[in-house]
Amino acid sequence: MTTQTSTRPLSGRVAVVTGASSGIGEASAEHLAGLGARVVVLARRADRLERLVARVGRNGGQALALALDVTDAAAVRAAAERVAVGFGGADLLFNNAGVMLPAPIEKLATGQWRHQIDLNITGLMNVIGAFTPQLVEAAEERGVADLINTSSIAAQNIFPNFAVYSATKAYVTHLSRHLRAELGAKKVRVSAIEPGIVGTELQGHVTDEGARAWLEGSKEAMEWLMPEDIAQSVGFLASLPPRVNLQQVTIMPTGQAG
Ligand SMILES: NC(=O)c1ccc[n+]([C@@H]2O[C@H](COP(=O)([O-])OP(=O)(O)OC[C@H]3O[C@@H](n4cnc5c(N)ncnc54)[C@H](OP(=O)(O)O)[C@@H]3O)[C@@H](O)[C@H]2O)c1
Repeated sequence: MTTQTSTRPLSGRVAVVTGASSGIGEASAEHLAGLGARVVVLARRADRLERLVARVGRNGGQALALALDVTDAAAVRAAAERVAVGFGGADLLFNNAGVMLPAPIEKLATGQWRHQIDLNITGLMNVIGAFTPQLVEAAEERGVADLINTSSIAAQNIFPNFAVYSATKAYVTHLSRHLRAELGAKKVRVSAIEPGIVGTELQGHVTDEGARAWLEGSKEAMEWLMPEDIAQSVGFLASLPPRVNLQQVTIMPTGQAG
């Protein structure tokens, strides 16, 4: 039997975090483990995941690394099987892996369009497809489960040259709203987190000079969020009483206007 305390409200829970090798996912996995959850961390870079697992262990938590590419549906299904066998299934999924590659549409950066759509939409769906049965089962048994998807303020706001990225995140937010309506009756809470700018590796993948200059300018003009700021909200959502579902959470740097 597991004991819940106010400092470890997620004791007894099993969290799967994608995109856990850096940034928001890494910070969230560590935070969820600190709140008592056993954490399964997914991303491609095995070395980074293993370091995270070791850190969680040193802090008294429990984590397992499964290195994979979320665009590989079979690999994601195999990971879900490992979680089912090793942990009895997930009851918290933080579906977070993503990439942002802005560029003017007329540059026809079709490879980058495809990369964003494959990861931010198809990868996200692979993870939802593999783990939703576990969330539903866990919610039936324990009274609550969480599906938290990482969207972005780009889902709502207009950023010239970010059209494809923003459209993938509009997909994430709209999907989340529909899934909340569908799965809420089964006690699975569904949330979309929509951060403004967070300092992570995300910006380092941008190749378009104009977008890089825009990001640099914004970094000088304001203090960006830190990954830990988002992690706090992920932990907060999952720790709420089962009757409470924060559907959509916008988290802005204080100095970011839009
Ligand atoms: N930073 C921001 O300003 C911001 C704002 C709003 C929303 N977001 C969203 O937040 C999420 C996390 O981004 P971040 O800012 O934390 O950036 P990040 O540091 O670049 O993290 C992205 C994570 O996704 C993983 N990943 C990338 N491709 C993958 C693949 N094919 N399969 C599995 N994992 C993959 C990366 O690990 P590997 O390379 O090891 O696979 C990494 O762990 C994204 O969905 C992003 O769109 C970020």
